[in-house]
Amino acid sequence: MPSTIIPTTLRLARRHRRLRQSAGLRALVRETRLSPEMFIYPLFVCEGEGVRREVASMPGVYQLSVDEAVKETEAARGDGVPAVLLFGLPEHKDDIGSAAYDPDAPVQAAIRAIKRASPDTVVVTDVCLCEYTSHGHCGIVQGEEIVNDPTVAQLVRAAVSHAEAGANIVAPSDMMDGRVGAIRQALDERGFTQVTVMSYAAKYWSAFYGPFRDAADSAPKFGDRRTHQMDPANVEEALREVEQDIEEGADIVMVKPALTYLDVIARVKAEFGYPTAAYHVSGEYSMLKAAARNGWIDEPRAMLETLTAIRRAGADMIITYYAREAARAIG
Ligand code: PBG
Repeated sequence: MPSTIIPTTLRLARRHRRLRQSAGLRALVRETRLSPEMFIYPLFVCEGEGVRREVASMPGVYQLSVDEAVKETEAARGDGVPAVLLFGLPEHKDDIGSAAYDPDAPVQAAIRAIKRASPDTVVVTDVCLCEYTSHGHCGIVQGEEIVNDPTVAQLVRAAVSHAEAGANIVAPSDMMDGRVGAIRQALDERGFTQVTVMSYAAKYWSAFYGPFRDAADSAPKFGDRRTHQMDPANVEEALREVEQDIEEGADIVMVKPALTYLDVIARVKAEFGYPTAAYHVSGEYSMLKAAARNGWIDEPRAMLETLTAIRRAGADMIITYYAREAARAIG
């Protein structure tokens, strides 16, 4: 029996499919757009020359010596990405993280070299101690405790040394209390009134930082980061963190990670209307890479869908290891 289609026309006030029928119409009604201009590209800077070492758990991400970091920055600029975020991999680590403020350490050298080669690049630096301490914690440890106020003093030294090297934005990622105000004051006292503070304001205690700790060799040797990073269950607390950082002088506030905290991004943007950054972190990146390598997802589509969601939630800028790939895909 051949099946027949019954000719019917529903009387519908709205037909949503009308606006989806062609690429041109879909583009006209698109609400969220991505642009390479909103990406910040993280780089891991190590000692040496000509070093370009792929991070095993982050395909496409490399530990780079200063000369290679300059090349990578220029390539990113060529793709339309305006900003880089620098992390340091020092050879020397000690219990107070003193390499964090060594003027000759990889980050400080990279800031100078990048600003020399590419003065318009917005250079952002991560301010934390975990890459610099022998125990891998984000602060000074006394007994089992990460002590807040002495840690802030060290973070201030790191931020000032980044400003002295020429950083445009310092981004404290440690989650100690009071560090934004202390950094702002120290920068101002030294005449760095234009150096911008991007605060990792709502940074959660997340399982998605795993691959980063491989890349930055910053896994804690004992304990974890639960006493300073936020409980993933909380959002009201995130608003208090953001509010305090703004009061202390943060120019840009960040939510981190991104995908599992889209509601937090949306609330932060809606309640404060401040420039808001979201960090699409290492684990979020590596999950997509791993699935793509297994042929389980269409990587370019999954990448753009992810970044679009972060943008749609309210992020003005996105820190992502996909910055170059996404910039090229957007065209
Ligand atoms: C430093 C820092 C971390 C990340 C950014 N800055 C690691 C951590 O808090 O353990 C994670 C970034 C990523 O996973 O991509 N404290």
